[in-house]
Amino acid sequence: MSEYVVEMKDIIKTFGQVQAVKNGQFNLRKGEIHSLIGENGAGKSTMMKLLYGMYPINSGEIIIKGERMGEITPMMAIERGIGMVHQEFMLVSELTVLENIILGFEPRKGLRLDLDKARADVRKYIEEYQMDVQLDKRISQISVGEAQRVEIIKTLMRGADVIILDEPTAVLTPQEAERLFEILENLKSSGKSIVFISHKLNEVMQISDRISVMRQGQYMGTVNKSETSPLDLTKRMIGREVFLNIEKDYGKVGEKILDVQDVWVSSNKETSKIRGMSLSVRAGEIVGVAGIDGNGQSELVEAITGLRKVEKGKVIVCGKDVTNKSVKVIRGAGMAHIPEDRNRMGLDRAMSIRDNLVTVRVDEAPFSKHGILQLSAQDAYSEQMVKEFDIRPTDYHLPTSSLSGGNAQKVVVAREVSMKKQLLIASQPTRGVDIGAIEQIRNTLEKAKKEGSGVLLVSAELEEIISLSDRIIVIHEGKITGEMMASEANENNLGLLMMGGAKGGAEHA
Ligand SMILES: Nc1ncnc2c1ncn2[C@@H]1O[C@H](COP(=O)(O)OP(=O)(O)O)[C@@H](O)[C@H]1O
Ligand SMILES: [Mg+2]
Repeated sequence: MSEYVVEMKDIIKTFGQVQAVKNGQFNLRKGEIHSLIGENGAGKSTMMKLLYGMYPINSGEIIIKGERMGEITPMMAIERGIGMVHQEFMLVSELTVLENIILGFEPRKGLRLDLDKARADVRKYIEEYQMDVQLDKRISQISVGEAQRVEIIKTLMRGADVIILDEPTAVLTPQEAERLFEILENLKSSGKSIVFISHKLNEVMQISDRISVMRQGQYMGTVNKSETSPLDLTKRMIGREVFLNIEKDYGKVGEKILDVQDVWVSSNKETSKIRGMSLSVRAGEIVGVAGIDGNGQSELVEAITGLRKVEKGKVIVCGKDVTNKSVKVIRGAGMAHIPEDRNRMGLDRAMSIRDNLVTVRVDEAPFSKHGILQLSAQDAYSEQMVKEFDIRPTDYHLPTSSLSGGNAQKVVVAREVSMKKQLLIASQPTRGVDIGAIEQIRNTLEKAKKEGSGVLLVSAELEEIISLSDRIIVIHEGKITGEMMASEANENNLGLLMMGGAKGGAEHA
């Protein structure tokens, strides 16, 4: 038998016009942690979904433990020991952890499901791999990290010895990610094989034995961890070098551009209600807001930008009290806003790139004069934006629906930043965009700051917060749990504050 538990050769997979995988190669050794990396849309998830039998392949070969598979269904994959933890968890929030773990098991003939036996089986895994979960809590009551452990236990209960995790750390704090890595090491020591999908190179360099890289559906090679570096991996991922470490120069901060004074905001989710938050942003600085998603950052931004009611407290933009004023008034006071959900609030996907670029200023000179649209001025401006922000394709008459996520985001960033407002609110500005666009967007924020704007940066990516910000504010359950200069910040001290500070952190640790 071959040395591999899984072999995928010359895989092609298309979805209609989209060639998701053009040349997929992947093999997995028993007892290794094998990372699969690549930019967004590189075909990583598709490759693993093919192995798990979620779609048929167009051509190629999949061999599981020496058996050449004609077609694969998820049932067949599970029977052969393949387990997958998807990017979106598939747990039922009203059921308990234990009920979720046994859900989907075929009840044995005529017998009622034996809950006690299931509980004992689960306990065995919990002990063996040290992954504490509370079996009688409802899914809605447990943390994301714990839900992920539940998903892993589910695969084990179904007999998996090949476990695929699709971007498992995207939703975790650094501390939770460390715990996950310990569990993965435990699984590996007991002979399980792990596929770890990620685009975070520091994690990949920490946890992997081998690393396979994909770029635009193409296999870009497999390397031993000991024989590669983050730079080498980046080059394979995107075909060139990028420098995400931006030179900082702090010291030339000016007057207060944004002043949030004891603001209270309601929300239908308990953890995201804002309970008395005060913060400020000065001209010429980037203030980062760090926090686990859903701890009030979206509500804070909405309150500042006029999209959500401020129950109590004040929002001052450029010296003007704009509390509960309209978006238009707040923009007029000096604010630009890169929203977290570009498709819901940032762009009209049916409209052209040009119309999206000018939309917020379409009734102002030079884009219109005496109530008449000045299309040549709009074209000239669009031409310049497409060039300056490297928006592709460059034909600005195309609808934005034809752009990739990264390029669509560049349109929003170009529009907001080119207005050169004094205050720029950037909410998850690089979420879901590829590395090349990330570099471009980060440089743009840095440039806006150098030119004297104050930037409030909200991001779930700690690495982004640390590398871009001058000052960092950490929030947890709608309150500020800490503030520090970026030069003092690291993943540990920020992560601790993200879980509520020393006390909350100790509880979780
Ligand atoms: N079910 C699907 N239908 C149509 N296109 C898809 C589907 N799944 C993935 N794609 C496309 O295939 C490409 C690869 O996607 P994916 O495998 O999810 O990438 P990755 O996981 O590396 O980010 C992308 O262009 C994506 O839009
Ligand atoms: Mg994916």
